[in-house]
Amino acid sequence: MIATEQFLESKSSLSYDREGWKRGYQSQPNEYDYWIEDIEGEIPPALNGTLFRNGPGLLDINGQPLHHPFDGDGMICAIAFNQGRVHFRNRFVRTEGFLKEQEAGKMLYRGVFGTQKPGGWLANAFDIDIKNIANTNVIYWGGKLLALWEAAEPYRLDPKTLDTLGKDTLDGILAEGEAFGAHPWIDPSCNQDGGASCLVNFAIKPGFSTKITIYELDEAGTLKRGKCHTVPGFAFIHDFAITPNYCIFFQNPVTYNPFPFLLGLKGAGQCVDFQPNAPTRILVIPRHGNKQMQVLESEAGFIFHHGNAFEQGEQICVDSICYESLTQVDSEIDYRDVDFDAIAPGQLFRFTLNLADATVQRQRLLERSCEFPCVHPDHVGRPYRYVYMGVAHNPTGNAPLQAIAKFDVTTGEEQIWSAAPHGFVSEPIFVPHPEANREDEGWVLTLVYDSSHHRSDVVILDSRDLRVGAIARLHLKHHIPYGLHGSWTSTVF
Ligand SMILES: [Fe+2]
Repeated sequence: MIATEQFLESKSSLSYDREGWKRGYQSQPNEYDYWIEDIEGEIPPALNGTLFRNGPGLLDINGQPLHHPFDGDGMICAIAFNQGRVHFRNRFVRTEGFLKEQEAGKMLYRGVFGTQKPGGWLANAFDIDIKNIANTNVIYWGGKLLALWEAAEPYRLDPKTLDTLGKDTLDGILAEGEAFGAHPWIDPSCNQDGGASCLVNFAIKPGFSTKITIYELDEAGTLKRGKCHTVPGFAFIHDFAITPNYCIFFQNPVTYNPFPFLLGLKGAGQCVDFQPNAPTRILVIPRHGNKQMQVLESEAGFIFHHGNAFEQGEQICVDSICYESLTQVDSEIDYRDVDFDAIAPGQLFRFTLNLADATVQRQRLLERSCEFPCVHPDHVGRPYRYVYMGVAHNPTGNAPLQAIAKFDVTTGEEQIWSAAPHGFVSEPIFVPHPEANREDEGWVLTLVYDSSHHRSDVVILDSRDLRVGAIARLHLKHHIPYGLHGSWTSTVF
C-alpha cells in the first residue's frame, strides 16, 4: 500500500490545480523504447500481456496549437507485462496526413473538432480533405494491431515494434476511406459461432438519413456477418452496446448544419447542434435472423459511451454515461480554459428498454461525474455486477477525471481510488486474473498523468478492492498526453 495514494475525501471545492491539469495537454513528440525500472510496489507475476493505448500525441503542429485535443495525431503506447518486468514503447501512427505535415513542418489539414489552418476562413473554405488521424482506439484482433478512428479505415501496426504497416481494409471488407468505428465490442461467446468469441463493430455514414453498417468478425478477423440499416435523420453515434441478440444504438437528439464547415468558419464536429426538446431515439437492431429494427424513445441527453447491456426477458438494460446536453468548445476559447462548472457532468444511467410495449425507463445510478466505463470482458452483453470508470475526485460537480471508481450496479456500492490532487487518470482497463473465480478478481490498469513531476505513471489497482491503494505505480521517464481508448491482450509483445 502506498500511503500518499490513499483516497482523501476533499471538502474543498477544487481537487486539482488548473495549471497542473493543463500541462497534461503538452505534446509528446518523442518516441521511446525501454524497460520500466522506476517502480513503487510489486508487479503481480500473474499479470502477463500487453496494454495498448491510443490518444493524441501532438497537441500542436510545429507550434501551431490545435483547437481541440480530439484533432491530435494518434500515438500508440504498448506496455508489455512479462513475468514481473514491464516494457514501454510509444510510436506515432504514420498516417498519410501525419507524414505530410511532419515533412512540411506546418499544419496542412483542418480538424473535425475545430482546428483550422492558419489564414482565417478563406484559407479553410471548401477544404473538406480531413486527415485520418487514427487516434481513438487500438485493438489486437485476428492477428492484427489496428489503430481506429471512426470516420475512416483503420491503420495497421506491427504489435511488436509499433511500426505503421499502412491502411487496412480488413481483407477487402472496407473500401478506400470507408469508416470503421472506434468502439468495437468482443462478444465473448457468440451464439452464431458455436460459442467462439467474435468482434462486433459498426460504421456510420451520416446524412439526411444515416446508414449504419454492422460487422461481425470471427477470431481470425474474417467477416462472418455484415448488414446495412438506414435510419431517418442525421446521427452522431460514437459508441453502441451489444447483447447476444441485439446491437443497440442511441441516436442523440442533434441536428447538423454543414454550411459553417464548408465556409471555413467551423470544424464539421462544431456544426452539430444539440436539441434539448427532441427525444433520444434508441435503435434496437437484431444481430441475427429477419426480425425488424425496433425504435424506442427516451428524453433528450447526449451519450458518447456505453458501459454494458444485457437482456432480461423482454427487456434490455443498457448502462451508459449520459450528459444533459452536448457542449461544444467555442471557436474563440482555448479548450484548456473550459469552465467545468458551466458544463453538466457525464453520469451513469440505466436505460431499461421494454421491447413488448416500446417504452423506456431511465434511472440515474450515480451522481459522480464519470467517463470511460469498462467491464469484465466475459460479461460483455451479459448480466454483470461491476463497472470501472474514470471519475472526478469529488462526489458532485464537474471536474477533470482524477480517480477510478468501481461501481456495483446491483447494490449501488462505490469504491474509489483517487490520484488527486496532482494526478489525472485515463480510461481504466480491467484485466481478469487468469485463475479468477469472481467477476472482480483481477487488476485495473490506468495511465495517470502526474502533474507534479510532468510525467505519467502506469498504475495497477487490485480490482477486488480499489480502496487498498495501488499495488504498483510504474513511473515512466516522460509524460503521455491525456489519451482516449485502449485495450488489453494476453499476448506479450
Ligand atoms: Fe470513445
